[in-house]
Amino acid sequence: MNMTDLLHPVAGPRPGGTPVVTPVYQTSTYDLPRTPEAAQIAGAVAPVGYYTRYGSPNAAEAEAMLAALDGAERALLVGSGMAAISAALLSNLRAGARVVAQTAHYTAALTLLRDVLPAYGVEVSLVPQESLPSAAASGADVVYAETPSNPAMTLTDLAAVRAAAPGALLIVDNTFATPYNTRPLSLGADLVVQSATKYLNGHSDVTAGVVTGRAELVERAWETARVLGPVCHPFEAWLLARGLRTFPLRMARHNAAGQAVAEALAAHPRVRAVHYPGLPTHPQHDLARRQMTGFGGMLSFTVDSPAAALRVLQSTRLARNAVSLGGLETLITHPASLIFSHGGTSDSVDASLLRVSVGLEEPSDIIADLVQALSA
Ligand SMILES: Cc1ncc(COP(=O)(O)O)c(C=O)c1O
Repeated sequence: MNMTDLLHPVAGPRPGGTPVVTPVYQTSTYDLPRTPEAAQIAGAVAPVGYYTRYGSPNAAEAEAMLAALDGAERALLVGSGMAAISAALLSNLRAGARVVAQTAHYTAALTLLRDVLPAYGVEVSLVPQESLPSAAASGADVVYAETPSNPAMTLTDLAAVRAAAPGALLIVDNTFATPYNTRPLSLGADLVVQSATKYLNGHSDVTAGVVTGRAELVERAWETARVLGPVCHPFEAWLLARGLRTFPLRMARHNAAGQAVAEALAAHPRVRAVHYPGLPTHPQHDLARRQMTGFGGMLSFTVDSPAAALRVLQSTRLARNAVSLGGLETLITHPASLIFSHGGTSDSVDASLLRVSVGLEEPSDIIADLVQALSA
């Protein structure tokens, strides 16, 4: 076999029409025009046809959808939610800067805030979530919020944070709420970060993350991501774009099912408390009604004892014992058994608490599964 013929096959004319679905551009590099335009492509922000760490047609397609969902000027797609959080924070921080954030954040975000950023000279104050507005008022370059937070479904009042710290850069992790239920940019956030691994993709088969906001800020985050290198590869971006096509349909169902499961659990004699922003018993239900247009599929509940919680965990048949959230299938976890995923110590998570990501199965089947597990 002639190696040159193998490497440069003659492609015949392409019969038929244009594909309805964007093909996967599974290439790491692009044959550039032999004109000065090549330098322009190389120097552009997120060029789609240059080098896949810089951007790709599949990433650009998903980014256009994600920007539209958030009402943002621009979106940056990266390889994980943590990559999005890291790019958003690192592109806006220098040694000596001051960050105010919550004590309740996704584990790895907490590690970034508590351990990594201070090692580079950034001052980070972690405050109880409800006091983020007043803490932000005491002077911060960056305020980092996450709402609702894990696992107690505590909310941050985003409009109050914005009003308290008008000069700070406000970055919000909107992974749990999603743009279907909360639009942080319209409440004054400068940047939104999300794990697209969860509801945005929705099928538990992609790891990805997104930063949205004003073009200038997203372009700065792109520059950081270009240097650090957390690429969302073309096939992952293609899968995400496919998942996004059904995002509103899925979210409507997650909202309805989440509410139904929360109400059924609240009425169950073996359940002590249910944490769900859509229940009137949630301590921030009024804020939830102001800030959220739906309450999602994430909830947690406590039973009588840690042993009872473990019995429930071992007895579900439909709900799978897996971390992550926002997929088609209902998942249940016992956070105290996974304390590292909350960045806490064993006494920081109630061992009688279980967390559920309510999936898209028939709500009556999900409820029946939990009810039978509670009786085990
Ligand atoms: C609220 C929240 N933010 C960020 C992340 C990180 O996302 P990823 O796992 O895609 O890096 C997670 C992951 O569980 C999360 O729950």
